[in-house]
Amino acid sequence: MTLPRHIAIIMDGNGRWANKQGLPRIAGHKVGVESVRAAIKFCLAKKIEVLTLFAFSTENWERPKEEVGFLIGHLFTEVLGKEISELHKNGVQFRVIGEIEKLDKKLQQSIHEAEKLTANNSGLKLVVALSYSGRWDITKATQQLCYEVEVGKLKSSDITIELLNDRVSLHDLPEPDLLIRTSGEKRISNFMLWQLAYTELYFTDILWPDFREDAFTEALNVYENRSRRFGK
Ligand code: FPP
Repeated sequence: MTLPRHIAIIMDGNGRWANKQGLPRIAGHKVGVESVRAAIKFCLAKKIEVLTLFAFSTENWERPKEEVGFLIGHLFTEVLGKEISELHKNGVQFRVIGEIEKLDKKLQQSIHEAEKLTANNSGLKLVVALSYSGRWDITKATQQLCYEVEVGKLKSSDITIELLNDRVSLHDLPEPDLLIRTSGEKRISNFMLWQLAYTELYFTDILWPDFREDAFTEALNVYENRSRRFGK
């Protein structure tokens, strides 16, 4: 079986799942955490190299204060605190991409500790995108290049695709082979715009809280039957 080396997931549909059960949106996020756990377990069992999860976008800051407060000030912090030792035991290397400085201080602190603790692990690389957007990522890389031109390290005519690529998030890892988006929406929604150039896209109507092992297996089966030519 041809397995993807890097799987990226837009975990969508928590709110709609909760709505369908007549529950508040945050109940959907809580069950969504169970699907995150299941996805990590699945990737560990399949020996996938990288799993990147889109947990909170730059645009998500515009959601109602109460929901943002729950996700950022409570859920992510609590889940990370509870799960990190288990992840470490399983050899997971944990990383966060995004504008970490915008997160609350306690969460920033837990992220730094978790990254430090697991930095030398050689198992699954688990990347969580928090306060992340693809345009932010490319803009940050561009800023970095401009700075290097400003200080005379580079000439603008030296700038190549490779040099920009070296400054975007996760440039040291293989690009995503497979992007999964749940809940029936067929959009990239400003996720890893640069890194998804040749990624296979897979959309399913299943809502994230219901996305478990069988659904993940189905996504891999579909991926296996795609022929990848990288434009050649
Ligand atoms: C999308 O559903 C989900 C989010 C914006 C939050 C994702 C968070 C989790 C799955 C919880 C745990 C994550 C980690 C990494 C611990 P939505 O709210 O957009 O749903 P809707 O489109 O139905 O409204």
